[in-house]
Amino acid sequence: MRATQIEQPIGTVDAARYREDGYLFPVDVMDAREAASYRSELETLEQRLGDSKVGNKAQLNFPQVIFRFANEIVRQPRILDVVESILGPDILVWGGTFFTKEPHTESYVSWHQDMRYWGLDDEEGQVSAWLALSPVTMANGCMRFVPGSHRGEMVEHKDTFATDNFLTRGQEAAVDIDEDALVHVELEPGQASFHHGRLLHASGPNRSDERRIGFAINYIAPHVRQTVAKEDFAMLVRGEDRYGHFHHVPPPETDLADAAMAWHNRILTSQNEAIYDGVDAGAAV
Ligand code: NI
Repeated sequence: MRATQIEQPIGTVDAARYREDGYLFPVDVMDAREAASYRSELETLEQRLGDSKVGNKAQLNFPQVIFRFANEIVRQPRILDVVESILGPDILVWGGTFFTKEPHTESYVSWHQDMRYWGLDDEEGQVSAWLALSPVTMANGCMRFVPGSHRGEMVEHKDTFATDNFLTRGQEAAVDIDEDALVHVELEPGQASFHHGRLLHASGPNRSDERRIGFAINYIAPHVRQTVAKEDFAMLVRGEDRYGHFHHVPPPETDLADAAMAWHNRILTSQNEAIYDGVDAGAAV
């Protein structure tokens, strides 16, 4: 299937394509050497973390709050230029997650629409970037998109709580997918894709010998409101916030500092109120 090729610089044509297709890729964000350097920082910090969990299931949530390198990535001008062409000049980072699939493992992501569970009130005020820090291929579990599905309805999702499903509730959209119409989001290290919060997407297991490492970054415009959790958090990365709907989280000064871990804990607790809304506590593990 066709990939939406981006000609530099990003402009109004690309924003129009995004509105039509619900996604854009590949976008060159950084060169291979810079991506390799960020990957090395991630892997060093993974060693420091050991078995301590800083996210839901196998996810590493909100790395931009606790790791300096991840805070640099969410502020990359190339990423923010694309986001600005979609959301406008004022930009907050709401969420961020490393989805790492180890070689020959069964972790997958079922078909879903992001905005179904986030408690945010404006689907047009949000876009996700997904940056590859390893080669991302069909063999190692790249994302798959249903082009144009963001223009359809929000569909029903059912909770499965499947163990190998990366998603918190193992939620699956109740839709029949036309395999021939899918786009496979293969990326080189340092390239990103962008997708709309209502676009149907999924990814399969890693059947290869290499790690598949992707950093999903969820950007919102400041007018968006959290309607499920009692409070919510974000980082201002461009322009200004004239609304004050979110607590502003400071960038990390060192890696894994106690103060940053305290912010991380507050954010995870609060956003899980939205993500697990309607699930009984015993099931939400
Ligand atoms: Ni998603």
